[in-house]
Amino acid sequence: MCQNMKKLYFFASFVYFICLITTTIETDTHSKICSQCTTPPKVDSYLVQFCRKENGTGLLHQDNSCCINSTVSSQTSLIVGVDMSGCGLKTISGLFSNMHDLKVIMLENNTDLQIKQDDFNGLSKLLYLSLPDFLQCPGGNKSWNSVEKQNNTVICEEEINLCVKNNVTCQNSNSHCVLTGPGVMECLCLPGYHGYKCLRQGTFPAVSYSIIICVCTAVISGFLWCTQRRKVKKKTHTY
Ligand SMILES: *[C@@H]1O[C@H](CO)[C@@H](O)[C@H](O)[C@H]1NC(C)=O
Ligand SMILES: *[C@@H]1O[C@H](CO)[C@@H](O)[C@H](O)[C@H]1NC(C)=O
Ligand SMILES: *[C@@H]1O[C@H](CO)[C@@H](O)[C@H](O)[C@H]1NC(C)=O
Ligand SMILES: *[C@@H]1O[C@H](CO)[C@@H](O)[C@H](O)[C@H]1NC(C)=O
Ligand SMILES: *[C@@H]1O[C@H](CO)[C@@H](O)[C@H](O)[C@H]1NC(C)=O
Repeated sequence: MCQNMKKLYFFASFVYFICLITTTIETDTHSKICSQCTTPPKVDSYLVQFCRKENGTGLLHQDNSCCINSTVSSQTSLIVGVDMSGCGLKTISGLFSNMHDLKVIMLENNTDLQIKQDDFNGLSKLLYLSLPDFLQCPGGNKSWNSVEKQNNTVICEEEINLCVKNNVTCQNSNSHCVLTGPGVMECLCLPGYHGYKCLRQGTFPAVSYSIIICVCTAVISGFLWCTQRRKVKKKTHTY
């Protein structure tokens, strides 16, 4: 139907290129958080000690303000800790999104810092969080095993899994309670269930779903390009 298929391939390459850029940007956000503070962590910083002490697997290394776990199997690097103390931070909105493996966050000595409960959404493995002492631990003191005040700093240690502590049962039998942040619980579908009220069985076909969407987009775009082009030709003919 369309003579110039080259353009379609051009379009496909363009889509591929955009995907590539998006992935690169995601990786960049990771490294940005590690180099955002100009002063490197002190040698006696909790983060530096944590990174050295927890290095039983030999996979941890320090990159500026971050402690990074390089898991060989998945060939990805996960940030497990970050020291942003004395960094002049005013907000941390969106800073830790998608960083589910964080265990240590140091935010002390940021005199203008304001925090919101949802700044910590998705962080369910926190063992150590330090804040300037005018702030409260997210989720309140009841969401942490210990809360201490010392030298202008509040230290929130070990998130409590409220699902376990309060013995929470979800209304729907195909879902279970999951801690999704300090003091935040959600009823999520059990593996093998998805959809409204977790009533659908079988894993959500995410991969085939995206492939179908991509193919459809490409086909529709190709079709539009062809029809639009034909119109242009016709017009020039009658002219
Ligand atoms: C962790 O151990 C590895 C291998 O022994 C070493 O190369 C690395 O520097 C250590 N990381 C830290 C933060 O001490
Ligand atoms: C680093 O990753 C390994 C392998 O996934 C894991 O066993 C280990 O607990 C991780 N270390 C930290 C400090 O998160
Ligand atoms: C925060 O400031 C205090 C007082 O200046 C200092 O003792 C402490 O080491 C600082 N914390 C970090 C993690 O740099
Ligand atoms: C939480 O604990 C800290 C340290 O013990 C205390 O200073 C603070 O007032 C407590 N916050 C609340 C809301 O009880
Ligand atoms: C938790 O709740 C379930 C159902 O409501 C009950 O059968 C179980 O005994 C409870 N466990 C504890 C430790 O309270």
